Amino acid sequence: MLAGRTFAPARQCLRQASRQSPVFRPAFTQAQSRTYAIASDDKVAKFKGTKHNDGKYAVTLIEGDGIGPEISQSVKDIFSAANVPIKWESVDVTPQLKDGKTVIPDEAIASVERNYVALKGPLATPVGKGHVSLNLTLRRTFNLFANVRPCKSIAGYKTPYDNVDTVLIRENTEGEYSGIEHVVVDGVVQSIKLITRDASERVLRFAYQYAMESGRNKVRAVHKATIMKMSDGLFLNTARDLSKEYPSVEFDAELLDNTCLKMVTDPVPYNDKVLVMPNLYGDILSDMCAGLIGGLGLTPSGNIGDECSIFEAVHGSAPDIAGKGLANPTALLLSSIMMLEHMGLREHAAKIQNAIFSVLAEGKTITGDLGGKAKTHEYADAVISRL
Ligand SMILES: NC(=O)c1ccc[n+]([C@@H]2O[C@H](COP(=O)([O-])OP(=O)(O)OC[C@H]3O[C@@H](n4cnc5c(N)ncnc54)[C@H](O)[C@@H]3O)[C@@H](O)[C@H]2O)c1
Repeated sequence: MLAGRTFAPARQCLRQASRQSPVFRPAFTQAQSRTYAIASDDKVAKFKGTKHNDGKYAVTLIEGDGIGPEISQSVKDIFSAANVPIKWESVDVTPQLKDGKTVIPDEAIASVERNYVALKGPLATPVGKGHVSLNLTLRRTFNLFANVRPCKSIAGYKTPYDNVDTVLIRENTEGEYSGIEHVVVDGVVQSIKLITRDASERVLRFAYQYAMESGRNKVRAVHKATIMKMSDGLFLNTARDLSKEYPSVEFDAELLDNTCLKMVTDPVPYNDKVLVMPNLYGDILSDMCAGLIGGLGLTPSGNIGDECSIFEAVHGSAPDIAGKGLANPTALLLSSIMMLEHMGLREHAAKIQNAIFSVLAEGKTITGDLGGKAKTHEYADAVISRL
């Protein structure tokens, strides 16, 4: 069982690795000689929350900046009309400086830890100055190791392809995002892509389990192990090894450049697979998938951890339209539907999702970004009328 097992942050793993094995064996050999301690039927990142005495789950709500409060209001209104058995616990995540580091207020951390789940609006990040990205801080604070991004074509919103249905799982804690960079000599810098077997294993296990639960039953690892033989090689070989523990899931692998080319040429062959990959590849490929269905405004995501999970829209705080009632709440709504599924509230999730898709397909009460004239609250009211 992963519960109880703690995963060390990437930098700590690097320090431990240097202490334990002064001679580095090739990552290929290490991966091949490995036997895995965690059983394949142990559920990764299982939702641990329980209902309170009033029959409701408490969910932490981070409304966020810019359009965040407006789109969060739509979610609250629709959930209330759909009688979803949850109560919101709103928290403030205005960053604080503690010992020179950007941290999230203790009350906000305590709330997420207590409830095991949060819905998050967009948070603005100052460019080139001020606090570090709060989104990154949240991922690190709660060790949210997998980023799940489904992209499904929406009937009524015309894009070059109308049958996209991809699911991409991105390793969310290390790789090129480990932040290990230094100047070797003036004019020469080095950035370390750190891949650990632990982090690879937990995200890959999550991918296999996601595939089984979602009925996709095919996992494809996307990599560049032809060039990054050790780092991507470790990720790929861990995926191959683990595939033996999930015999009902078909496993294969594909080079990243190949995936990009094939997906923009014809996305349909990807509709029955779960794609899993290291951090940076997932960052780029998931935006490409979002482009196939009409952009970030329609794309939900879930940041999954062993203890807590945080669901959020992929788009930012849209300061240009904030406070004008023009924002489209669909991406945050679809993220909240992923959250309900994670919590096991599948019937409520399906009911709200059907209402959203029906309003979008009709195309009469849609927001400006989709070519309509509806205000945020008018769109939410239309969804409520279809519940
Ligand atoms: N996960 C996050 O919290 C997150 C993600 C991306 C960006 N950001 C932050 O958001 C801020 C603004 O970033 P940006 O302008 O580059 O990207 P953005 O996604 O906020 O906006 C890009 C464009 O898309 C439009 N848009 C975005 N969401 C929309 C919605 N729901 N409905 C209608 N139109 C929408 C905006 O009006 C804008 O024209 C920055 O501070 C950035 O750091 C946060």
